[in-house]
Amino acid sequence: MPAANTQRPPVLDELVIAGAGPQALSLCCQLLQKRPHWRRRLRVVDPSGTWLSRWEQQMQRCEIPWLRSPSPHHPHPNPHALRRFAQERRRSRELEGPHGLPHTSLFSAFCQSVVEEFQLVKQVQAASVQQIHLDQAKPASMEVRLSDGSVVRPRRLVIATGVGVPVLPGWVHAITAGYPAEALQHSQTIDLDTCVGLRGQHILIVGGGLTSAHLAMGALKRGAQVSLLCRRALSSKPFDADPGWMGPKHLKSFQAEPCWHQRRQQVLAARDGGSITPQLAVQLQQARRQGHLQLHEHCQVQAASWHAGQWQILCLDGSRQPAHRLLLATGQHQGISHHPLLRQLLDQQPIELIDDLPVLTSDLRLPGTNIHLMGSLSALQLGPAARNLFGGREAAQRIARAAIKA
Ligand SMILES: Cc1cc2nc3c(=O)[nH]c(=O)nc-3n(C[C@H](O)[C@H](O)[C@H](O)COP(=O)(O)OP(=O)(O)OC[C@H]3O[C@@H](n4cnc5c(N)ncnc54)[C@H](O)[C@@H]3O)c2cc1C
Ligand SMILES: NC(=O)c1ccc[n+]([C@@H]2O[C@H](COP(=O)([O-])OP(=O)(O)OC[C@H]3O[C@@H](n4cnc5c(N)ncnc54)[C@H](OP(=O)(O)O)[C@@H]3O)[C@@H](O)[C@H]2O)c1
Repeated sequence: MPAANTQRPPVLDELVIAGAGPQALSLCCQLLQKRPHWRRRLRVVDPSGTWLSRWEQQMQRCEIPWLRSPSPHHPHPNPHALRRFAQERRRSRELEGPHGLPHTSLFSAFCQSVVEEFQLVKQVQAASVQQIHLDQAKPASMEVRLSDGSVVRPRRLVIATGVGVPVLPGWVHAITAGYPAEALQHSQTIDLDTCVGLRGQHILIVGGGLTSAHLAMGALKRGAQVSLLCRRALSSKPFDADPGWMGPKHLKSFQAEPCWHQRRQQVLAARDGGSITPQLAVQLQQARRQGHLQLHEHCQVQAASWHAGQWQILCLDGSRQPAHRLLLATGQHQGISHHPLLRQLLDQQPIELIDDLPVLTSDLRLPGTNIHLMGSLSALQLGPAARNLFGGREAAQRIARAAIKA
């Protein structure tokens, strides 16, 4: 264990949560519902200093009108709370279709009310977790350094930092000539609202997930000519995975499966890559018929070069595509090797990995430590919806139970 910051002695905290996204909010609510007096023992840190900042940003920047997940999926412990919130405010029309997919603004207002109900408004410290040092003699003890210089010694740490590192295909790294920053962007940094002058431009979008479809619609709305390149056939389904994965139908046998490799295969098969919703599929189809959108399935970029204000794209099938802008909707890395905090832990103690995902205990702890993981890193325990709002509730229940029992 390195010497602690000499100016500021470590503060002894009960529970530190890294991240203030929907998953962390789920956990705080579960804990405080059972132990209201634990508020003083909770420290939530997020560089934004507020709840759900990344969530809000991603929804607003990609102009997402409503969620993909049904109304019972949200951070409040009571699954009916969002529907009741909508009814009480006469906003039930903002629950779309048979699954009641909440409109983005309704979901935001609801989450704000959850933060207020659980008195969490001032709970987020504006800092990030930068370093975790496990006590070598007793790895259940740890020291956590924050970006504001403070050092804490939590009894328990929860890493709820979501996914952050964009997938950049190999050909992106091979681009040599300089190009303006806005000519090549990943969905994580694109803000449709600031994309000006798209009218008449040719926008090429790579990816076959829901983000690619939203970006396509955003560019079409602004008068662009869009090409969508998917490395497989574009797949359309209501949710990321069959709804049976958000309940006992599939999860019971998944959680009874003793082989971690088998579980990993089941997670991959259940999501089966990216997919778009049937509603977006209809909208894209319409744009194709009108001649504004070209869909290139089973198509992969081999190389891109920037000449005279345009991209020249060479695909593996030998075809060539000109484009003024390239948008990458290729998703984010889900595994440990792209997670800065987990990489630090991997250097300090062995972690059993299956295809870059950690094998966790049933309360989502890294074995031998008091560090719990939420989000996609818990997929071997929670299944394909681990990274979604559904996974947040499942993880929160397990971690809260463990924290309260200890
Ligand atoms: C465009 C888009 C739309 C989506 N829509 C849905 C949907 O409709 N339904 C659904 O179920 N899922 C949806 N998802 C999946 C979605 O990512 C999750 O549901 C949700 O955002 C995950 O919440 P989270 O709390 O794990 O992560 P995040 O929302 O990413 O929050 C993590 C937080 O951790 C903070 N952080 C990062 N590093 C550190 C650090 N070192 N220290 C402290 N804090 C840190 C970040 O600043 C961030 O605020 C969507 C994803 C995308 C990209
Ligand atoms: N609420 C909403 O309306 C909304 C909007 C956007 C996103 N979301 C959710 O957010 C999550 C992330 O969605 P996402 O679309 O950003 O990511 P995603 O679902 O992971 O999809 C990424 C896509 O990029 C493709 N891809 C990855 N690497 C590639 C490469 N090197 N070359 C070419 N293609 C590559 C993948 O292809 P393969 O399919 O072949 O793997 C996949 O189609 C999902 O859960 C989604 O449902 C929700």
